[in-house]
Amino acid sequence: MTILVNRLTDNFAAEIRGVDLSQKIPSGDFADIKTAFEQHSILVFPDQPLTDQQQIIFSERFGELEKTINSKKQSGAGKPVTVLTNVGKGGEVIAPEDRRMVFNTGNQMWHTDSSFKPVPAMMSLLSGREVPSEGGETEFASMRAAYDGLDDKQKNELEHLICIHDFAYSRSLIDTSLLDREDRHELPPVRQAMIRINPVNRRKNLFLGAHASYVEGWPLEKGRTLIIELNRHITDNKYIYKHTWKRNDLVIWDNRCALHRGRPWQKIDKRVMHRTTVVGSMTV
Ligand code: OGA
Ligand code: MN
Repeated sequence: MTILVNRLTDNFAAEIRGVDLSQKIPSGDFADIKTAFEQHSILVFPDQPLTDQQQIIFSERFGELEKTINSKKQSGAGKPVTVLTNVGKGGEVIAPEDRRMVFNTGNQMWHTDSSFKPVPAMMSLLSGREVPSEGGETEFASMRAAYDGLDDKQKNELEHLICIHDFAYSRSLIDTSLLDREDRHELPPVRQAMIRINPVNRRKNLFLGAHASYVEGWPLEKGRTLIIELNRHITDNKYIYKHTWKRNDLVIWDNRCALHRGRPWQKIDKRVMHRTTVVGSMTV
């Protein structure tokens, strides 16, 4: 079987058909998926009902999986599947004011997964198990296309900069009480390169998002202003793909070179998403 690849925007994102991810797919098809991933950064696989075990098996073909860190905030601590849900144990919809939901609103800021860890994520795989009838989209922004959109002078200025990424900083933008002292201790700020290079095609990209707090060696405000400007540049409409979910879509994205954010939805609707995350490599 040969996979079909359809581009979704001029810059990035593609839809993949012609595979059944619940089965062990042939190595030739897997190689084609990997090639498409390096090229397009976001891959949408429509109509892929998966159990957690099937999702884990497919995800592990790309590499080692992260374990969820939000041990006290989310169920399933230490497991390779993170469940993003607004459905409680009794099947009821959890109120948006509930602390668990407030914590998850962090996903509505433009970010790249685990950039606050010394080893950030390479890829995330998100399976839409129950999706709202309206809203609740996930938007993606290409940090590669955004890099290409800079002029040479800007590119040179940014080339060797290091950003400090800090989970406590991004969460403080929602509510300063969301992280306790123990959480802060577990997640100290980390250094990340501002410019990354894809190891396969050598294309360069910016690497920023909500966890980027300041620029190493620069006055705090000057660095923060630059980060805010660059995040605004990356998330310009021309670099965005907006994914409207259908049930059982599997969407996978390249955290090395794309930002993403969840969009709000009518909170009476259920939204249940299961995510696996593949570990990446250090950027500095
Ligand atoms: C994530 C995430 C956004 C969404 O799973 O990492 O940011 O739309 N999700 O659920
Ligand atoms: Mn995320």
